[in-house]
Amino acid sequence: MQIKCTTGSNASVTIHFLARENPLRIKDFTADVDQVAVRYENERPVVFCGLGEEKQCTAAILRSAAARAAQAVTELQRSGGDVSAACIVPDLPSGTVETSKAIIEGVILGDYRFTKYKTDKKARIKSLDLVAANVSPALIRTRRRICEAVNYSRDLVNENASVVTPAFLASEAVRLARDGVIKATVIDAAGLKRKGLNLIRAVGSGSATPPVLIILEYRGASRKSPLTAIVGKGVTFDSGGQNLKPTGSIESMRHDMAGAAALLGLFSAVADIQPAINLIGVIPAVHNAIGSNAFFPGDIYESYAGKSVEIWSTDAEGRIILADAIAYCRKMYQPDSIIDLATLTGGIVTALGNLVAGLFSNDDELARRIFNSGERTGERVWRMPLYKEYCDSIKGDLGDLRNLSKFKKGVASPIIGAAFIKEFVADTPWAHIDIAGTAYNEGSARAETPQFATGFGVRLLMDLLGV
Ligand code: BES
Ligand code: ZN
Ligand code: ZN
Repeated sequence: MQIKCTTGSNASVTIHFLARENPLRIKDFTADVDQVAVRYENERPVVFCGLGEEKQCTAAILRSAAARAAQAVTELQRSGGDVSAACIVPDLPSGTVETSKAIIEGVILGDYRFTKYKTDKKARIKSLDLVAANVSPALIRTRRRICEAVNYSRDLVNENASVVTPAFLASEAVRLARDGVIKATVIDAAGLKRKGLNLIRAVGSGSATPPVLIILEYRGASRKSPLTAIVGKGVTFDSGGQNLKPTGSIESMRHDMAGAAALLGLFSAVADIQPAINLIGVIPAVHNAIGSNAFFPGDIYESYAGKSVEIWSTDAEGRIILADAIAYCRKMYQPDSIIDLATLTGGIVTALGNLVAGLFSNDDELARRIFNSGERTGERVWRMPLYKEYCDSIKGDLGDLRNLSKFKKGVASPIIGAAFIKEFVADTPWAHIDIAGTAYNEGSARAETPQFATGFGVRLLMDLLGV
């Protein structure tokens, strides 16, 4: 999408944002939050979006209004083809920069559709004029790139699991590194064996598409500046393994690599924007398959960190691949903080639903910063506890740790999953974000959140990194 500031525009559709106290009078339009109306002026469509009371108009309200406007604009086109739009940027107390940012985000995120397998591709917005705003091309470009990265992450999750294999994720990482701004390293199956990344190997053993560990590295600041590591769960399909998932739970499991997709999205934006930060990205990528080579419940494996793990369920695979990825990342890169993003548990969907991710952390300051980024971006998180009794419940009998607790099935499962990962972070400030609910929207589209893959995490982490 081309975006620019203009004074006037001859785009095919004009978008107006109106607060309730705005004097513009349009029949049957009260300017309530979420309200969208289309009227024709001189045979040209004009989209009106309500913002509610001006004083209470947040970036989130504006972003959602812009997303709804984008959808109204493309709905107006009967069939495929591209459309141009002009937004009259409203004069709000938050100022033109914040207002323009929210509009750009809303329009790009709201215009997203996964049309690869659709015969009727529907129209997309080709160009957006920001009328009456005076923001820098750099600001526009940064916002645009971040939101395109969200859409890229959505594409990766929506695509077939038979296409998005561990090798495919690795090839994407290599592709992102082609300009030399970021560096990609792929540890293949032989490398995993040589290095003793046995938990990743165990989960990947049942699949014809072998597991890999992908590492992305970006150094945009001095050596003394902090190094942040992001780890993304990359289970390209989670069948549950020998603990096979039943019909009703298995259908959406291509999205079990949404953490990895968000990480690739993040790096695609970083490669372009080149912010002054230091960043490591780590993706343990596996297909958790069922078959005669698959690992077994009852097996015990020695992890990369040295602790052995009893497998009580092959479906609790996320925590164990993350354990090896985190241990390897700590040993090789000594990051100042680690944040993992994982579709870890169904329990977090039960607890928090689709609107907010679960946050677990051993560091109050890091947790607070992530919470604040969530509030700013609308990619919200809610902190959950890591009480000692829960952490003690994963001690093993024949091995050091067990990948399920001794509690009844399902009890506090998001906490148990987080407690397991915590065993591998030692004293590094760490946060775990359980995105099982927020990464994939099985309900209908909500403004900037489409149906199915949402791209959750890209904007949250970008904000956290100060971009
Ligand atoms: N990938 C799933 C978690 C999941 C469930 C993600 C629903 C998205 C939607 C994970 O690997 C898993 O199977 N978790 C189990 C853990 C259990 C065996 C302790 C779960 O949540 O049921
Ligand atoms: Zn699983
Ligand atoms: Zn999983």
